[in-house]
Amino acid sequence: MKKTVLVTGGAGFIGSWVTEELCNLGRSVRVIDNLSFGFRKFVDKRAEFINGSIGDRKLIEDVLDGVDTVMHLAASSIIKFSFNKPEEYFENNITNALVLLEAMRKKGVNKIVNSSSAAIYGEPVSIPIEEADPKEPITPYGASKLSFENILSSYYHSFGIESVSLRYFNAYGPRDEQQPTTRAVPIWIRQILKGKPVSLYWKGKQVRDYVFVKDIARAHTAVLPLRGFRVYNIGSGDGVLMTDILQSLSKISEKKIVIQDMGERKGDPKKLVADISRIRRDVGWIAKTDLVSGLRETYEYYESVYKSNLR
Ligand SMILES: NC(=O)c1ccc[n+]([C@@H]2O[C@H](COP(=O)([O-])OP(=O)(O)OC[C@H]3O[C@@H](n4cnc5c(N)ncnc54)[C@H](O)[C@@H]3O)[C@@H](O)[C@H]2O)c1
Repeated sequence: MKKTVLVTGGAGFIGSWVTEELCNLGRSVRVIDNLSFGFRKFVDKRAEFINGSIGDRKLIEDVLDGVDTVMHLAASSIIKFSFNKPEEYFENNITNALVLLEAMRKKGVNKIVNSSSAAIYGEPVSIPIEEADPKEPITPYGASKLSFENILSSYYHSFGIESVSLRYFNAYGPRDEQQPTTRAVPIWIRQILKGKPVSLYWKGKQVRDYVFVKDIARAHTAVLPLRGFRVYNIGSGDGVLMTDILQSLSKISEKKIVIQDMGERKGDPKKLVADISRIRRDVGWIAKTDLVSGLRETYEYYESVYKSNLR
């Protein structure tokens, strides 16, 4: 019988692209999502959909029937909210994820690809950031992601559950419709489309590593043959100033951008750029989409969503 891949959080921004990538490769795919932030319409029609939480012990055991691999993307992922509700973030990103892991152990599912984050590094000691660099998260969200990586290490060494944690840097692309919108690219594109001033923190002088969502989705399937306990940075490997992104968006939209200075913000490292040599060496993955093409595709997506909402 064909084995199934379970995608947790598959109705969300990144998870929906991972689901689509797996379906395109002819895999049998099941999605579990409680739609707290995701959307049913984003789930590929070829995938089976279950509306529920990874923290529901009985449900998750049933959902794991016939599954050989889990792609775990379900999480609370809005950094800003993790300051207001740290317990909720630890509960969902650690306790609920542990329910999933225990169910995997019980059902003999021995492989998980886990969404981690550049947020585990905190303020980096050097750029580009290597996987072995110090990890001192400065947000409850980052701490929750690092804790779960450590739990996965223990589940490999203690119980043989193999895992690959992918530490995404700044993901961008179509379907980032999380509400409320907190990420720069979708906020800016909406502001540009509405002819409003663009809100800019730190005068745009932060450096970030933006990686296109379809490249991230490809990384999930690229690491499937790997064995053991692994961690990888997932970025483009190039740092860009936030003002560079604005300039590209101005060119793509052919609109002059007016800036609203938002000052400084807690939980924002100055520079985050990934060293991606480890994943390139091990599986040959690189981010193929250049920033301007990725931003153009993203802009066109939001433009069509915006137009259809106006109708
Ligand atoms: N977007 C980024 O830039 C970024 C960067 C680093 C890491 N990540 C990680 O990538 C993953 C996906 O993030 P995203 O940007 O697609 O966010 P998202 O909010 O769009 O997707 C997360 C999905 O998980 C679902 N979910 C949350 N808790 C759940 C639960 N208990 N049970 C079932 N479903 C649940 C939500 O409804 C949502 O559909 C997350 O683990 C996030 O921490 C994202």
